[in-house]
Amino acid sequence: MPFADVSLVTTADGSHTLQLLQTGEHYHSQFGALNESVYVFVKQGLELFERSNTLIKLLEVGFGTGLNTALAMAWAKLHQKELMYTGLEPYPVPPAVFASLNYGQLMEDPQAHPALQEDYERLLCGEKLSYGTALAGMVQCRLLEFESPETFDLVFYDAFSPTTQADMWDEASVAKIVSLLAPGGVLVTYCIRGYIRKAFLALGCQAEKLPGPPGKREMLRITKPLYV
Ligand SMILES: C[S@@+](CC[C@H](N)C(=O)[O-])C[C@H]1O[C@@H](n2cnc3c(N)ncnc32)[C@H](O)[C@@H]1O
Repeated sequence: MPFADVSLVTTADGSHTLQLLQTGEHYHSQFGALNESVYVFVKQGLELFERSNTLIKLLEVGFGTGLNTALAMAWAKLHQKELMYTGLEPYPVPPAVFASLNYGQLMEDPQAHPALQEDYERLLCGEKLSYGTALAGMVQCRLLEFESPETFDLVFYDAFSPTTQADMWDEASVAKIVSLLAPGGVLVTYCIRGYIRKAFLALGCQAEKLPGPPGKREMLRITKPLYV
C-alpha cells in the first residue's frame, strides 16, 4: 500500500493534524485535534469500560496519526486496564511526518505517542507494540478486506467524512463493522448523518446522539445488542 500524501496543520488547541492533499480533507477537527479525540473516543467510548475487569478489545478504523492509539494506550495504563488495540490503515502516514507530530508535548501522558513514534516502522512491519497494560498493532488493509477471528468490545470509527469517502459509510461498511462488534459492543464516531444512524438501527443496533466535541453539535454512539 502507498503512503498517504499529507501536509502538517496546527489546529485551534495547538495540536497537529494532517491534511490529505488528494481531497483537502483533514484527519481531525480544526477546532482542536486533541480535544476532539479525547472527547469522542476516550470520554464517550473508553470511559464506558472504567469498571471492566476483563481484556478490552479495541478496533480503530483509520490508524492515521496514531493519536487515538496513544490516547487509548495512555488511558489503559492510567486505569490499569488490559487493552488490545488494532488499527486498520491502508494508507499509512510517512514515517518522517509521523515523527514530527506534536502529541507527546500536549498529552497528559507525554510518553504514549513518542513510544509509537519510536516504533512506528515496527508497527508498519506488522509487529505489536506494548505500552503499560496495552498492546497495539496496525493492520494495513481496508475495512472491507479485514478478517478477524475475534470480535471487538469497542470500535473507534474514525474514517474520512461521507463527503470525501462515501463508501466508508454505506450499507456494506456499516454491516461489516457491526459484524466485527462483539454482542454488547460499542462504536463511537464523530459523524452523525441520519442515513448512517438508520443503517445501524436497521441492523438492530441502538443509536445515541450525544453532544459533540468543540465546534460540532452532536456525535454518534452505537451499541450492538447482546442477542441478535
Ligand atoms: C479521518 S482520518 C483519521 C485517522 C486517525 N484516526 C487519526 O486520529 O489520525 C481517516 C483515516 O482512515 C484511513 N482509511 C482510508 N480508507 C480506509 C479504509 N477503507 N479502511 C480503513 N481505514 C481507511 C485513512 O488513511 C486515514 O488514516
